[in-house]
Amino acid sequence: MNDLQTVVERARAAFDTVHAPAELENVKAQYLGKSGCITDLMKGLAALPVDEKKSRGAAINQAKQAIEAALNARRQALADAQLQAQLQAEALDVTLPGRQRGVGGLHPVSLSLERIQTIFGSMGFEVAQGPEIESDWFNFTALNTPENHPARSMHDTFYVEGGTEHAPNLLRTHTSPMQIRHAVQHVKKHRAADAAWVQGTLFSGAMPEIRVIAPGRTYRVDSDATHSPMFHQCEGLWVGENVSFKDLKYVFTDFCRTFFENNDLVLRFRPSFFPFTEPSAEIDIQFPSGPLAGRWLEVAGSGQVHPNVIRNMGLDPERYIGFAFGMGPDRLTMLRYGVNDLRLFFDGDIRFLAQFR
Ligand code: DAH
Repeated sequence: MNDLQTVVERARAAFDTVHAPAELENVKAQYLGKSGCITDLMKGLAALPVDEKKSRGAAINQAKQAIEAALNARRQALADAQLQAQLQAEALDVTLPGRQRGVGGLHPVSLSLERIQTIFGSMGFEVAQGPEIESDWFNFTALNTPENHPARSMHDTFYVEGGTEHAPNLLRTHTSPMQIRHAVQHVKKHRAADAAWVQGTLFSGAMPEIRVIAPGRTYRVDSDATHSPMFHQCEGLWVGENVSFKDLKYVFTDFCRTFFENNDLVLRFRPSFFPFTEPSAEIDIQFPSGPLAGRWLEVAGSGQVHPNVIRNMGLDPERYIGFAFGMGPDRLTMLRYGVNDLRLFFDGDIRFLAQFR
């Protein structure tokens, strides 16, 4: 091997040990740069006799071309390797199944509550919200519930800390306290505008009707397939100067038929007792067909608001009269979807809940 071949081989070997493109350019300078091997060899031509210059010059040029070719090959090899590595790092497996985005949905009871609000909204009812920790006054006393009423016993009611012996705090056992809370606010607002009203007296002046529903959570010490310690109720109240039991029947029948999308649904108002209504009725419904056909199913308590309750609202019962009802949205949801265990609603099992999406 002559000296030129040796130079070419060395250059090739040097290029091959390099793995980074920037390093390759440094090595290139050692061979092809201003003070690299090839330039040195060219300089050496000057000292040669004229007849040798030509052939030596041609040979050096050939060596230079060979080095350049080796350099380009190495550059290409490094670029290819880099591209390959990048492709591998960014590999996209188009055969992978797509990732599904979880689609949420409303809880079945929330669906019912929305439905109830929409239907009563279309009949001109407002929606009121109130506290779940309630006082004895709003939950019982103001609702004409005497102190020895069974609903007050420890058995039914969750008492919580913070009250006094005579006014304990409790978790509301029904949404009925909202009748008082909402009516008191309503009456306060309108009697203030009436110059004839005397402070401390019941209001007998003119005011817009009270028409409200109050949905929400309620609590009782009770738990089985049809009772849960936390459950939902929706209160309804309509008080005016001429609101009768007939209006209650009309409104509630219209509501049930719309809620269950069944105009042949039959309702029964069965005489009952509640301290805050007189007369009182339990409302049963019957489906004309389907798996529940022929059975009377209780869906609400109702009645004409008791004069004592009207008084506790700050109103004169000689002028104001109305009806109230309290229904169970959980039960309505069970009937609407054919669910037979209430606990399914509160277990949080996604397999159950996803069916209502
Ligand atoms: N609060 C009663 C209960 O929880 C239901 C009820 C009955 C509400 C009659 C009313 C009513 O407004 O008039 O059992």
